[in-house]
Formats: sequence, C-alpha cells, structure tokens
Amino acid sequence: MLKRNIYCGEIKESDIGKKMVLAGWVQSYRDHGGVIFIDLRDITGIMQVVFNPEINKVSHSVGETLRSEDVIAVQGEIQKRSEETINPKLFTGMVELKVNEVEVLNKSKTPPFEINEEASQIGEEHRLTYRYIDLRTPVLKQNMIIRHKTTQEVRNFLNKNRFLEIETPIMNKSTPEGARDFLIPSRLNHGKFYALPQSPQIFKQLLMVAGLDRYYQIARCFRDEDLRKDRQPEFTQIDMELSFVDETDIYVIIEHMFKDVIKKVYDKNILTPFPRMSYREVMGQYGMDKPDTRIDLFLADISDLAEKTNFQVFKEALSKKGIVKSLNVKGGARFSRKEIEDLTEYVSIFGAKGLAWIKITDKGPESLLLKYIPVQIQDQILKRNKCQAGDILFFGADNHKIVNDALGNLRVKVAEMLHLIDENKLNFLWIDNFPLLEYNVEEKRFIAMHHPFTSPKISEKEGGTDKQIIEALRKNPENLFARSYDLVLNGTELGGGSIRIHNKAVQETMFEALKMDKELYYQMFGFLIKALEYGAPPHGGIAFGLDRFIMLMLKEDSIRDVIAFPKTQKGICLLSETPAEVSNIQLKELGIKTVK
Ligand code: AMO
Ligand code: AMP
Repeated sequence: MLKRNIYCGEIKESDIGKKMVLAGWVQSYRDHGGVIFIDLRDITGIMQVVFNPEINKVSHSVGETLRSEDVIAVQGEIQKRSEETINPKLFTGMVELKVNEVEVLNKSKTPPFEINEEASQIGEEHRLTYRYIDLRTPVLKQNMIIRHKTTQEVRNFLNKNRFLEIETPIMNKSTPEGARDFLIPSRLNHGKFYALPQSPQIFKQLLMVAGLDRYYQIARCFRDEDLRKDRQPEFTQIDMELSFVDETDIYVIIEHMFKDVIKKVYDKNILTPFPRMSYREVMGQYGMDKPDTRIDLFLADISDLAEKTNFQVFKEALSKKGIVKSLNVKGGARFSRKEIEDLTEYVSIFGAKGLAWIKITDKGPESLLLKYIPVQIQDQILKRNKCQAGDILFFGADNHKIVNDALGNLRVKVAEMLHLIDENKLNFLWIDNFPLLEYNVEEKRFIAMHHPFTSPKISEKEGGTDKQIIEALRKNPENLFARSYDLVLNGTELGGGSIRIHNKAVQETMFEALKMDKELYYQMFGFLIKALEYGAPPHGGIAFGLDRFIMLMLKEDSIRDVIAFPKTQKGICLLSETPAEVSNIQLKELGIKTVK
C-alpha cells in the first residue's frame, strides 16, 4: 500500500519538485482533453492531482474510473500549476501533484448528497441519517476541529489554575436539575435503577469535602426534557467546583477563562469584567432572565401612570394585582397595520390578550388609546420611555409573568425584524440575586430556582448567619434570595452555578422548606448530608453548556451543528436508529415487562 507522507492542505510552493504520497477522497473529477484533474480531499484541505497518459498509462486508465468519494492514494511529483489552472482562493492553488502511481483503497457508492457548502440546504433528517458523510462537509468538519480546540484550551487554562480533572460516576442516583432522569435497570438488583447524571453536582461537592480543592470535568450530562435548538438529551458541560471561594472569586476566574479561550481559539478580544445585574433588574428592564444586551430596547413599568388613565384594559390588570409595562421600539413607528397585527398574534403565544400601542410621529403621538389617557399622563409615559419621533410604544397589561414573557420576547422579535442586533458583538452578562424558590404550577409547590444545594441569603445585600438563614427558611422561604449566578451570552443562558450549603442543619432545613419529608430527602441525598458532618469546606461552582458556547461562537443556529452525532427533536439518532427495542431475553434478565 502507498504510505501517505504529507497532507493535502499542507503542500507549499517550496515542495515543487518533491515526490509525495497523498491519500484522501475524490472531491471532483474533470477530464480536459484526456488529462484528468481530480481534487483530492483530506482533513486539511484539497490538492489537485493530475493523471496524464504521457506520465503513466496504467495510472491514467485507473484515473478514468474514479468517481466522487472514492478513496485513493497517489504518488507523484509536486509541480507548479499551468497558468490557466492556478486557483488563488486555495492555499494549495499554485501547485498540483503529477500522478505516477495510484491505488484505489475503496470505491464509494454515489453519495446521498454532494460534499460542499450547499449540503447545509439539504433536509436535516437526510443529513443526520448519513451523518458520517455530512461531517465531511467543510463547515461541520471545521466545527469539530474548533470544538476540539475549545476543550483543549479550557483544559489548558484550568490545569494552569490548580484544577484537577476528575471523572464522576455515570451510573448513580438522580441529581435533581429540574428535568426527568434517564434510567438504567439493574440486572443484579431487580426493581432497582441507576439514573444517568443530569449533572455531576453532588459528586463534585463530595470532591470538595474530600479536600481536592478545585475540580473540573468536561462532563457528559443527560436530561429527559423537551428538546429545542439549544437542548439535547445528552450534552456536555464544562463543570467545576472550588473550595474556600465566594461569588467574586468565581466571576474572576471564569472571566479569565473565557477571555483566554476566546482569544486563543476564536481570535477575538472580549472585555472583562463582565457586567452584572440582579434578577430584579433584568426582569424589570428586559422581561427575562437571559436578556440579549446587544439590543438597546428597554421595558418600563408604568403601572403607577396606567392607574391614572381611563383605559379599561390597564385598570382591569391592575385591579387583579397585575402590572402594566411598556416597550419603546426605536424606529418602530414605520410598522404597518399588518405588522402590528402579526406582532399581536406573536405575543398571544405568551398569553397576552392584546398589544396596545402608541406611535410617535412628527406630529406627536397617534393611537386609539389617547382618548383614554390624560395629556399630562401621556407626556409622562413618553418621557419615562425616552420616546422620540419615529418610535412606537407597545403595552402589556396582565399578570407579571404574561407581561414579562410577552414584552421580553417581543423585544427580541422586533430587534430581529429591524436588524438591530450586531452579530459581531459578544455580550456577556452575569445575573445574580435570584430568588431562592420559584412556584411550580404543575407540582403546586415551591421548588429551588437553581438547585436545593444552593446557599440561601436573607436579602439582596446581606448573606446572613446560618442561624438567621435557618429561621428565615422556616418562616418565609419564599422571601429569600439565592447565592446563585447565571452567565448569559447574547441572550442564551451559557451557564449557572452557586455558592453551596456546607452546613448540615441549613441543608436539612432547605429540604424541609421544599416540603420534602426527612425520610425522602435522606433516601435521596443522605450520603451528601452525612458528608457535610465531616469537615465540609465552604465551596461553590458553576457549569457551562459547552455545546451552547461553541454554537454561539460559531454563530450556528442549533447545538446539533457542533455535536458529532446529535439526536433529533424527538430524541432519535437517525443514523443508528436509537432508541431501539431490545430482545425478550434481555428484558427477562432485567426483570422488566414492557407495556405497548
Ligand atoms: P444547569 O442546570 O444550569 O446547572 O446547567 C448548566 C448549563 O448546562 C447547559 N445545559 C444544556 N445544554 C444543552 N442541552 C441541555 N439539555 C442542557 N441543559 C443544560 C446550559 C446550562 O446553563 N449542576 C449545576 C451547575 C452548578 O450549580 O454548578 C447545573 O447543571 O448551558
Ligand atoms: P380592546 O379594548 O380589546 O379593543 O383593545 C384595545 C387595544 O388594547 C388593542 O390594541 C388591543 O390589542 C390592546 N389590548 C387588549 N388587551 C391587552 C392587554 N392585556 N395588554 C396590552 N394590550 C391589550
């Protein structure tokens, strides 16, 4: 077999005259008056190879049989291309290989689609079925290389900063991160199950109790939840935990990590420190806790002014303890009636019953609403929203959730419509001071907004002593805040973490505040609570979605484009046809009967 001694994309003009062996795939085939030109492709790029009957008749006749995606090795001399075939766009566009010997290593069937930039236009189902061919396309191949570099640079940075890379179990008890678990039945213990980890949360905390000081893992996590463009059932976290730290220590190290990785892998400079906002502030200004701060449009609470109008919609919302907020869309006065109707339809997805508006024209405000709003109040509303001629002011009146969801999402929607988003910006934002608990409508109880291992604090400003926290957890847990933080990048939640509870009594009281009985939480997390009794240091950590980070950096639309073998929205791997049925023998061994 011909043995490769150089890669296609690495041949330079200084190699002219040298004998080389290349191996790769036939990208394209052209016959120019009996001379055959083939673009040969490997991981590094493309090299033109030429079969000329005058050089070697036998090789030339093999050349004539070659077709797209055949795998070959060729030996020959590197020469300068003739003037008319020079391709300045290609790194190897000045040179070609004059084939002396050829070996066909494998023939290919006609591929289901061509391997070029246009492949991304083909239906995704088809591409996922033939993922190994899809991965040959330049973009996906590059995405895999960048993904590799990203994890390498993350590792380099953390290794230099005293972190140890430690693997935690995949088969264990469930850790609650708010999604359903994937379960594995136990053959040796019928009726018992392992759960795949939703995150390494409890084990990384135990590593801190073990005194390992700083841990990280490029960790595979599994969550059975509704899938979207930025969610896969199995995904990867950059997961870490540190001892003897507070929030600021975490912010600083993470800012350094992203600055370093983004410079080294993506050749971009980012500004640090990242801005910080509280949950209260972001909900007020943006209506959501993962705002895209590249968009300079803001929400305002105008409930106090709405109170002084005669507009029934406002009055009714306020009488039910709701809220009235406005969104000033700069340059939005040009929206047509049809566009406003479409936007009204859009906000209805979030439960909004309508979308009142005032246009600000050169002649002043215009709206059917004006007759219900005293002129003085109109002025104050426009002033609070910094309205100018050319703007449109939208209103939402309902309960807090509906108003924030509707106007928060509308803000993003109109920014896309008006092309207000600068795609070159990387806007990071820390969000802190989350409430400790949130009400879960389905379960009719409070659940931890981050997770139940997060340290509570008694107010936005003040942490409080363990004693104060325990008292507050017993009395009014819904008023507490969490020592948790999220990192948002361009409107996507990139990561989240918290300073943890390291005191046993606080942890137990936290579970009680979540209305779990002792037996249940000991059964689930007894091993962690017990560990807190043996010298658990103060500790905290964070985890980032690696797939999401790479997706955002590469401006891809979906995390599927940065994962080698992703699953569909329905959790199916089309390539291997997974999930699949198993044999009755396997089920019997596991003591399992399935219900059709
Ligand atoms: P959390 O649940 O916020 O925190 O997850 C951290 C980050 O993981 C990413 N992520 C996902 N990415 C792709 N597909 C999914 N289904 C998916 N789910 C989550 C997100 C998210 O911000 N143990 C805690 C971290 C900690 O407290 O240290 C945790 O897992 O980018
Ligand atoms: P109506 O009184 O229902 O005809 O509505 C008058 C205007 O208020 C229309 O522009 C509606 O889209 C808008 N509207 C109705 N309900 C709401 C609401 N809950 N929030 C904001 N605007 C609304």
